[in-house]
Amino acid sequence: MWTKAAVLLTACIWTGCSSASSAAAGDDDSDSNLEVAQAVTDPGPRGGDRGAGGPYDQLGNDEKTFFTTARDVFAEIDSVSGTVANEDGKGLGPTFNGNSCAQCHAEPAVGGSSSHPTLGHVRAPNPQVGLATLDRVAGKAQKVPSFITPDGPIREARFVTNPDGSDDGGVHGLYTIAGRTDAPGCTLAQPDFAKAVAQNNVIFRIPTPTFGLGLLEGVSDDALVANLAANGDAKYADGVEGQLNRSGNDGTVTRFGWKAQNKSLLVFAGEAYNVEQGVSNELFNNERSAVAGCVFNSNPEDATDTTTGGAADTTLFAAFMRLSSDPTPTTSTASELRGQTLFGTTKDPQVGCVHCHTDTLVTAKLRYTGMSGVEIHPYSDLAIHHMGTALADGVSQGAAGGDQFRTAPLWGVGKRIFFLHDGRTDDLKRAIRAHRSAGIAASASARRSRRPRNDAWSARLRFEYGVLPCPVIKLLMSRKSPDCQGMDTLVASTSPCTHALKSSGIGEPSPK
Ligand code: HEC
Ligand code: HEC
Repeated sequence: MWTKAAVLLTACIWTGCSSASSAAAGDDDSDSNLEVAQAVTDPGPRGGDRGAGGPYDQLGNDEKTFFTTARDVFAEIDSVSGTVANEDGKGLGPTFNGNSCAQCHAEPAVGGSSSHPTLGHVRAPNPQVGLATLDRVAGKAQKVPSFITPDGPIREARFVTNPDGSDDGGVHGLYTIAGRTDAPGCTLAQPDFAKAVAQNNVIFRIPTPTFGLGLLEGVSDDALVANLAANGDAKYADGVEGQLNRSGNDGTVTRFGWKAQNKSLLVFAGEAYNVEQGVSNELFNNERSAVAGCVFNSNPEDATDTTTGGAADTTLFAAFMRLSSDPTPTTSTASELRGQTLFGTTKDPQVGCVHCHTDTLVTAKLRYTGMSGVEIHPYSDLAIHHMGTALADGVSQGAAGGDQFRTAPLWGVGKRIFFLHDGRTDDLKRAIRAHRSAGIAASASARRSRRPRNDAWSARLRFEYGVLPCPVIKLLMSRKSPDCQGMDTLVASTSPCTHALKSSGIGEPSPK
């Protein structure tokens, strides 16, 4: 492996460094260097400890106890009226994608993302397959949509347009409670996913992990604005802009979800409870698809206990996520530290991943013990960026248009199995390559032509994907693999080439 890597990498060094001296290099879209990339493989999710799932370390004992209580509720399974054994949460349906927060937020621990039958810690097939038959009357199983497979990601589906051509963009539940033993008389049919797939009218979203989100919630709007403005020239030169999505109600920054469409953990919890599980609640109190024959409980199905004052589930869900610890990084080996250097820091952006994937943010003054003024490393600016045609999903949410996505926070990514908003790949290399798109390259070159040429332009290259992944993989993922070692050592010794990594292939296609 060492020999093969050395040969291929030498080819890359040559291509990279020679292209660096060519003025047109940034516009070169040929894939010659991608051959090099074939030599680098993503070794898959990191082993060892789960590295996430517990409470934030500095919390007091009472807060930690509350966290644990809240986690149990996050993992509770819902049936229609709480009458099925071992499914004592109530309110499932009429439509749903899952029956428990922890069903989708599972890997590597409760709060995380999709599990996989043979990879990672949980080792369970996609639970959405089983929902077609779970608790159904004999002969009343529902159809598993084609995009839900046992070893694929958990997904929710949105339709891009309505049958009349107007914008839809909403989530369409995969299943209904019709045919369940606890929903007699309900006949609500599943949406016609086969047709939507055939018409190319359906897009997907996979679950994002919820670890450490109280820290992200706790970064002030001003800090996010300042972070986005920092290093403006370097970002601009690399074609990176970005904007913050904002609430139409109070004007503050919204930051959760793939398009940064949601304001807070409590709002997200309320929305997820209604959309994913069909449980109406105090935040979203009108049940979706509440058609005659399918409504079995009074609304809201989840609420504050008016006798005891006990918290509603939504409050506990938010508390669990807010008090959870950020994932533990493993940037400790020499090779991981080199990867970290290449990825960049605000002070020294290197290849420029850090332009969007911000390395350090600081929390504001928070009421939870030990969470104030803390430096955190989410690897996200929480801003939305134009990602070009290859990633666009055509759905708008708030200020985020069809090709805009929130910079995905990369903390804990070494434990993730599926990547990108729709879970299109489990290969980190492909996830990184997907950042390049024809739209981006074209607009980067348009932007260049609008600006005076300087040395920085010619030194910047198309995305040198062949060199980059190994150290980057080492950094965040610590996806340990013997065949990365050789590449790594070599990359470290080729500093001219690493400078050439400055990418013109990653950026935003529509400058304002
Ligand atoms: C059927 C699977 C499924 C279930 C069940 C589910 N989620 Fe999610 N969750 C998702 C998906 C998909 C996303 C990404 C949605 C998007 O941004 O479009 C997500 C995103 C989130 C986020 C945003 C995290 C971030 O990084 O910004 C939070 C918070 C969240 N879910 C909380 C919950 C809570 C609380 C529950 C239980 C009420 C829940 N989810 C149940 C699939 C699920
Ligand atoms: C222009 C801003 C920008 C730059 C520069 C950028 N990214 Fe991203 N990155 C994003 C956005 C936005 C997403 C989410 C895209 C989507 O899901 O469609 C993302 C997603 C990812 C993901 C997938 C994470 C997940 O949760 O699925 C990885 C891995 C990643 N980026 C690594 C990198 C690396 C490595 C670099 C440097 C070579 C880089 N990114 C540069 C904006 C950026």
